[in-house]
Amino acid sequence: MLPLLRDLAERAERDLDPRWHDYLDTGAGEEISLHEAEAAWQAYRLRPRVLRAAGEVGTAARILGTRVETPVAVAPTAYHRMFHEAGEVATAAGAAAAGALMIVSTRATMPLADIAAAAGPWWLQVYLTRERAAIENLVTAAAELGASAIVLTGDTPIVSTRSRGRGSVAAMPPEWHLTNLGRAVPEGVDPVWAVDADPAASLDDIQRLAELSGLPVLVKGVLRGDDALACLDAGAAGIVVSNHGGRQLDRAIATAVALPEVVTAVGGQAPVLVDGGIRSGMDALVALALGADAVLLGRPVVWGLAAAGAAGVQTVLDGVTSDLRESLALFGVASPGGLDADDVTGRR
Ligand SMILES: Cc1cc2nc3c(=O)[nH]c(=O)nc-3n(C[C@H](O)[C@H](O)[C@H](O)COP(=O)(O)O)c2cc1C
Repeated sequence: MLPLLRDLAERAERDLDPRWHDYLDTGAGEEISLHEAEAAWQAYRLRPRVLRAAGEVGTAARILGTRVETPVAVAPTAYHRMFHEAGEVATAAGAAAAGALMIVSTRATMPLADIAAAAGPWWLQVYLTRERAAIENLVTAAAELGASAIVLTGDTPIVSTRSRGRGSVAAMPPEWHLTNLGRAVPEGVDPVWAVDADPAASLDDIQRLAELSGLPVLVKGVLRGDDALACLDAGAAGIVVSNHGGRQLDRAIATAVALPEVVTAVGGQAPVLVDGGIRSGMDALVALALGADAVLLGRPVVWGLAAAGAAGVQTVLDGVTSDLRESLALFGVASPGGLDADDVTGRR
C-alpha cells in the first residue's frame, strides 16, 4: 500500500465514529475475500523493457467515450455523509480536480443534482429495485443531469451479513437514507419495500436500463469469463470485475485472479474495469497490463474524504496516479496503452 494511503487509513480508523468506520472497513463472512484482495495484486511480477525511448509518460484515456486524465477512478460507495458533511458533493469535486471519473452510488446521501453540479465526468451506479419504477426514474434523472453511463451492480441480489458495523446503517440520521432513490419511488408505494434489491433481477434488465437512459450500461460484480460474455450478449457495454470489496459473497475469488479470464473472454469487444484491493499505482499498472481499461478505488477515496473532504479525495487520486506514472516510466512505456499481458508473469 502507498504510504500516503496507509496514513489516511490510520487517520480514518483513529478519527471516525467507530460505527461509520466499521461500516467502511468491514467485509462479509470471515472476511477471506477482503483479506486476499491486496495480496493478490502483489503476487504478480513484472517483465520490464529497456531503452524504448518511452519519453514523457501520459495517463489520459477515454473510457466508453468518457474522457479522463487518469485511468484511476472512484468506485461507487454508499453514504458519504458518514465521512464528511459535504458528502458526495465533496467527493465529486475532488474527483473533478484530479480529472478522474466518479461512479456515484445509488445510495448517495446528497441530492444527485448537487453532485452532478460539482462533478467532472460521472456515471451512476444502480441495482434493480423491487419496484422497478424507482430505479427507472433515478436512471432517467441521471441521464438528464449529465451522467455518461450506468453501472448496474449485479452481485447484490441480497445484501450480505457484514462482519462488523451491522447496526451502522440503522443508526444513520433519517435524512441520509433514500436521498435520491426515495424521491424516485412512485406515490402510494412503501419506499422501504420499493428500494430493496430484487433477487429476481436478470440479464434482461440490462437492455431495459440502456433503452430508458439512452446510456451505455456496464455490469459490476463479474468474476467469470462466461458471465462477462452473457452480460455483453444481453446488451452490456462494459464489464466491471469486482467482488464488492469482499462485502458480498465471502470466498469469492480475488479480482486480480479473475481479471485475466474476463479480459480473454471479452476479447476487446468492450471495456473492462476492475476494483478491489488496489492500493498503489503499481497495483494499477498490473491491472492495466492484464487488460483492464481503468481501475476503481473504493475505501481509499473514502479515507481521503474523511481526512480532508474534496482535497483529500484529490490527494488520493493524484497520489495513486503519480505512482502509476512513475511505475510506467520505470517499466519503460509511455502510457497504459503500451502495456500488454506479456508484461506481467503469472503468479509467483
Ligand atoms: C463503504 C462501502 C460502500 C459501498 N457501497 C457500494 C454501493 O453502493 N454500490 C456498489 O456497487 N458497490 C459498493 N461498494 C463496493 C465498491 O464499489 C467497490 O467494489 C469496492 O469498495 C472496491 O474495493 P476497495 O474498497 O478494496 O477499493 C461499497 C464499498 C464500500 C467499502
